[in-house]
Formats: sequence, structure tokens, C-alpha cells
Amino acid sequence: MTEALLDVKKLANYINGEWVEVEGETTPVVNPATGETVLEVPLSDKTAVDAAVKAAKHAQKEWALVPAPQRAEILYEVGHIMKKRKEKLAYLLTLENGKVLEEARGEVQEGIDMAFYMAGEGRRLFGQTTPTELQNKFAMSVRAPIGVVGIITPWNFPIAIATWKSFPAIVAGNSVVWKPATETPIMAYELAKIFEEAGLPKGVINVVFGSGSTVGDAMVHHDDIRVISFTGSNETGRNIAAECGRQLKKVSLEMGGKNAVIVMDDADLDLAVEGIIWSAFGTSGQRCTACSRVIVHEDVKETLEERLLHAMEQLTIGNGTDESVRVGPIINQAGMDKIKKYVEIGKEEGAKLLAGGYEMTDGDYEKGHFFAPTLFTDATIDMRIAQEEIFGPVVSLIPVKSFEEAIEANNSVSYGLSSSIFTKDVNRVFTAQRDLDTGIVYVNAGTTGAEIHLPFGGTKGTGNGHRDSGVQALDVFTEWKAVYVDYSGKLQRAQIDTE
Ligand code: UN1
Repeated sequence: MTEALLDVKKLANYINGEWVEVEGETTPVVNPATGETVLEVPLSDKTAVDAAVKAAKHAQKEWALVPAPQRAEILYEVGHIMKKRKEKLAYLLTLENGKVLEEARGEVQEGIDMAFYMAGEGRRLFGQTTPTELQNKFAMSVRAPIGVVGIITPWNFPIAIATWKSFPAIVAGNSVVWKPATETPIMAYELAKIFEEAGLPKGVINVVFGSGSTVGDAMVHHDDIRVISFTGSNETGRNIAAECGRQLKKVSLEMGGKNAVIVMDDADLDLAVEGIIWSAFGTSGQRCTACSRVIVHEDVKETLEERLLHAMEQLTIGNGTDESVRVGPIINQAGMDKIKKYVEIGKEEGAKLLAGGYEMTDGDYEKGHFFAPTLFTDATIDMRIAQEEIFGPVVSLIPVKSFEEAIEANNSVSYGLSSSIFTKDVNRVFTAQRDLDTGIVYVNAGTTGAEIHLPFGGTKGTGNGHRDSGVQALDVFTEWKAVYVDYSGKLQRAQIDTE
């Protein structure tokens, strides 16, 4: 199956509409469920970034002059091809990332949705008209493309997040230099081929494979890249922002979360259990939006624990290509080491381990990286397992005495991506949506499952005030231009000739 789907053994960069072989070092793309090498990805150097930016800069001038509805036609075509190829893309996504097929299909669907949504923007890209202070004068604000956009995408949503960033950038008239994560470059290869087939002019999108420290760094430092859109770790994001700050380069960051589900005493507990299981253990907890804390009212704590444990026993763990599996592998050894470290920290801090807490190594599990779904209870908000992002299937229950304490516990972390509350009390629902300090709030659902036409991002340490997705994504990739047209035939001086 894999051989039939993959037509290369080593990936090449996509620069100026050409597949450019890279000499030198490569790194293997490893299937995290089996340990098998799927193919090799090159580790490009700065010269590849320079070539990509040069091509992007050249292409952007003409691309910006193509009417936006025509630019959008290409995105519609991209969406159609993705739709036709959904099953293949999902399978390859599972091979490189490990997430179960059902979720891989969901992720590809997110990209398809984004294609059609952003293609629609080709006929909107709304600005504003507004009155002016003076007679016979007209004023409007329009969105203008910025130029060359640099996008740096993570391994956990290798195709969806790439579409969140590249599609709005392209429909708005920018060109793109894209560095995908080295763990998951196949989605980038496939998406670049789709752009090519859809007829995107050469140079409008360029893919450079390689490490963050070389390729990412060269992008961040390049004078001709005027915007960086990054999803990844907090530490890397802060470094990128610092450098972009020095260069006055626009930067949009999305850097994870420490998301909580709040379960109140009046909650539908069965529903809450379903929401927690799905958002905590789906994608093996490797989502920025994953639930890693459950803030539970003490009156229902014991019942919730019992039901969660029961539900966790039903979870099947294994290779994501097996349709009966619910929880796939951990991306790599580094991810595994981090999860194990936090489980030890949790034990030392005095949280009570109710389930899981170990790497699975029996039989077929030995070949890949599998971690048993893990539940801690009696955690407190000051513990590191309740504060820091673990990025694995580890959940900590934090008991609270009241609604107010629950909100406070939710807001006690340095992140602010997603939150959720299970309650039947309408007053609590509206108070919570106001007071939960996160960019995304769910009521009676888990913390994952954001839809592409709403803004995606968060407060505090999650980002820097920008949003992926939604019409808000266009703000990252456009400049606002204010245009005044005076048709009075004389010099009119604003703020002075107002009589
Ligand atoms: C991420 O984990 O970075 O809301 C993205 C969700 C998905 C996207 C997650 N639609 O969970």
C-alpha cells in the first residue's frame, strides 16, 4: 500500500515551480507506529531559503495583480483535488504522523474546508468605505498583500495548519515560503503537488525542507520575508518573536495550551466523560487544544473518576491504520521522553496515579512509541503537571469546591488556548464564556474540534494576539491601506478646511 502511494524515496524542495534535489544530509521520516523509515527528507541549508525567497519575491509581483476572484479559482481547484485525494492523503498522514485514520481524514477535511472557505474570500476580502470630513472626497480602507510570507508548521497537524496559513496568504495576493516539520514532510510534498496541478503560478508557493535551526532561522532572518506565521513550541516562538521584533517583521504565533475541561456538579457526567476521553486521548493528546486538566466539582469527583477509568479501559491503542484503534502512537522518542518525565514529576509532586503512566513495550508496541492513557487525580493548580504542556495522553484531575474556584483554576496557567465547561445551568454557561481566559471556549463539549471559519488562537502564553483561521487570518497576511480620493478639484486640507 505504502509503495503504491509514495512515488519517491527522498523528497526534493519545491522552488519556483521546480522540484529541486538537495545534496547533502538527509533525515529519515519514521512511521511512529512501526519504527519503519518511510522515506528520507533533505536538510536544506540557507542557500535553499535564499533561492525560495528570490522566486517568491519575483512571483508575488504578478500574483498580486491577478484579480482576487481569479486567485481564488486556484484554491477551489486545490479543494477539489484534495477532496478527490482525501483517502490517500489521510493514509499518508497516518503513516508519517501516527494519528488514527478517522482523525487523519478529519484533518484532511479541515484543509478541504479551508480551501473552499478561503476561496470564497476571493470575492470578499472586504475593506470599508467611510465618510470623510470634507465635501467631494471619498475614503476607503482596502486590504493589501504584504509580499513574501514565511510559514513554519508543526508535525501534529501537518496538512490542516499548513492550509490555515498558506490559503489566506495566497488568496490575499502574497507568495509563500514554507518550512514543514521534518517529522511530517509528506503532507507538504503532497500539498505542493496539488498546488502545481491546480495551476498555481510558479514561485507563489515554495517548500524548503530542513531544520528549524537552519531553514527556519534563515527565514526569520531574511529581509525579504515580511511576515512569519509559526505554530510550535513556546520557546521557539518566543525566539522567533524576539528576532522579528528587532527587524520590525510581523509575526503570528500559536504555541500550545494547558487546556481544561470543567465538570460542574450539575453536569451530564456521561457526556462529560465522552468529551474528556475524546479531547484528552484523541491524537494521543498531541494537540495544542488537547484536554490535559479536568477541573471537577468535589461532589461529582469520585463518580467521574470511576466513569473515566471505565471509559479508558475501552480505549484501543495501536497502529492508526487499523480502523479499530482509537489511540495511536507518540510522534518520536523525544516526545516519549517528555511524557515520561512529566509522569515522574506528577508522582513526585504527590498527585495520585489512577491509570496508565507507562510506555507500552509488549509485542508490536515495542516497534513504535506507545504510551498508556494516563490519569492522575488530586492534583493541585500549582503542580507542574497542572501547569506545563505535556503533549501526550496524560490528564490530571483537579478537585474544586465551587464554580468560582473552577474558573480561577482554569485561568491559573500561563497558556490560554481552549477551555470547556460541562453544566446545565445557563447562568454558569454565560458567566463561564465571559470569564474563561482562553481564545476558544466550549460548552458541553471537549476542548478540541475548532472549526476553520472561526478564529483559532489564544491568550497569554499561547500566542501574541493574532489568529489562524477565520476571516481574522487575513489580518496576519494583509496590510490595511487607507485610500482618500479628492474629487473637489481644489486642495482641501483635512482638520483645517472644515468650515
Ligand atoms: C492543533 O492542535 O494545533 O481544534 C490544532 C482542534 C483542531 C486543530 C488542532 N481542529 O483540535
